Amino acid sequence: MPRAERGRPVERIVLVGFMASGKSTVGRKLARILRWRFVDFDEEIERRTGRSVPEIFLRYGEPEFRRLEAELTREVARLHHTVLAPGGGWITQPELLDLFGPGTLVVWLRISPEEAVRRARRARTHRPLLAGPEPVARARDLLARREPLYALADLAIDVDGRPADEVAREIADRVRRLGAAPPGGTWQGASDRPDS
Ligand code: S3P
Repeated sequence: MPRAERGRPVERIVLVGFMASGKSTVGRKLARILRWRFVDFDEEIERRTGRSVPEIFLRYGEPEFRRLEAELTREVARLHHTVLAPGGGWITQPELLDLFGPGTLVVWLRISPEEAVRRARRARTHRPLLAGPEPVARARDLLARREPLYALADLAIDVDGRPADEVAREIADRVRRLGAAPPGGTWQGASDRPDS
């Protein structure tokens, strides 16, 4: 049952999902459609630390990166009119979900391991957890372990073979049906489409 359905409009959206599922791209587009703010966790952590994500993994290890993710979550969990895109492993600390209050819609961008590796190969971003030999087997294994956690989301959207624009529009439509809180603070019903 969506946290967002408990009698209030959607105030914030958290996009979860495996690496390369499109959280950053979809999140940016979704925020534009809703005219909300967008926070990309990896980018924000890089900005704050002055180091790239692969560098943080290499120099300080994954636990330090997870600590930074948790710290950032505590800071942004109460923001309104915000689309949040944490990295793919953020969900391995599922207790962070509890920091978000009512009005939060958690959306899982569901991707297959094959498609994730295909996309990761094309992308410029380096993903330390998919580096090395047999990335598909690695992705399958990681995804199998994480799937029960991603499934804690309120909504799951399949993204294989679908452009980010289409996925963003689908989420925006679902959010409007639930009732989205617009930046101005007045209720925005299903018929009010800011991108039309
Ligand atoms: C990670 C996903 C990455 C990034 C880091 C770890 C993971 O983000 O946070 O490399 O554990 O799945 P993307 O999901 O944006 O690739």
